[in-house]
Amino acid sequence: MTLSNKKLAILGVGNMGNALLKGILKASPVAPKDVIVTARSEARLVAAREEFGVGSTTNNTKAVEFADIVLLCTKPQGIEDLAKEIQPAFDSEKLLISILAGRTTKNLEDMFGTTTPIMRAMPNIPSMVDEGATAICAGSYATEEHQQATRAIFSAVGEVVDVAEYQMDAVTGLSGSGPAYIYMIIEALTDGGVKMGLPRDTAIKLATQTVLGSAKLVKETGLHPAILRDQVTTPGGTAIAAIHDLEDHGLRPMLISAVVTATEKSKELGD
Ligand SMILES: NC(=O)c1ccc[n+]([C@@H]2O[C@H](COP(=O)([O-])OP(=O)(O)OC[C@H]3O[C@@H](n4cnc5c(N)ncnc54)[C@H](OP(=O)(O)O)[C@@H]3O)[C@@H](O)[C@H]2O)c1
Repeated sequence: MTLSNKKLAILGVGNMGNALLKGILKASPVAPKDVIVTARSEARLVAAREEFGVGSTTNNTKAVEFADIVLLCTKPQGIEDLAKEIQPAFDSEKLLISILAGRTTKNLEDMFGTTTPIMRAMPNIPSMVDEGATAICAGSYATEEHQQATRAIFSAVGEVVDVAEYQMDAVTGLSGSGPAYIYMIIEALTDGGVKMGLPRDTAIKLATQTVLGSAKLVKETGLHPAILRDQVTTPGGTAIAAIHDLEDHGLRPMLISAVVTATEKSKELGD
């Protein structure tokens, strides 16, 4: 199943729904006339119609009937009621892709009828600027074609990796929640700069670009971060003095622990 000539419904055109809509229209052969979006409030829909020229409705069933691929981007709370509402419009030909945190493909198969092909995806918020990190996994009735269509959708807004479903909680703990950790790091580096006398706007520009550029260097060189770190660590210099401080204060165990805690929380919420 490629995306060309496919009709797409995005149920819940909020933050993530909007980011995906924008990325899909920019990067893929899906035309605005082949896309319909839903929300509860008319204001959201007017904004999507005006910005992207897509169809819109508050009637989720109508949107599902229109589409070959349904992207579920509402909140996990209330999904049972929504599933009851739209389930009759599904058949084994329509692909359902869910980005709902904590809802397994098995949960969704039970709600939507067992033969519905279902894919689960965990994107993250930098999808809004086409730098997302998304993990996907397949439900029991999703074929390789369904997986390809799902990869095509999320690669429009960043990187996509395949994982086993049991790894989705770890994905939530790492890349799903990860932007929050990085924002704290940017904020703290900025405060460090301000403490040492830099104006705040200069400090935040430097901190942000340092995080962005360092990540880009890891990605583009494919080198282990420790090798890149060693390259900027002059003997007796400033970086090694700071690294000693970071090790002393437990930066690494702290970040590992953050991922562990968020993974466990994700498991708990899923249960
Ligand atoms: N944000 C993240 O970083 C992130 C990362 C990974 C996964 N997710 C998942 O993405 C999903 C959406 O998150 P979000 O941050 O985009 O939330 P959001 O901005 O609140 O968007 C949710 C959207 O769903 C709409 N909606 C709610 N109930 C609906 C219904 N019954 N019918 C039609 N539309 C309905 C809302 O409409 P109104 O605006 O009209 O109320 C809103 O536009 C969640 O399931 C979350 O677990 C989010």
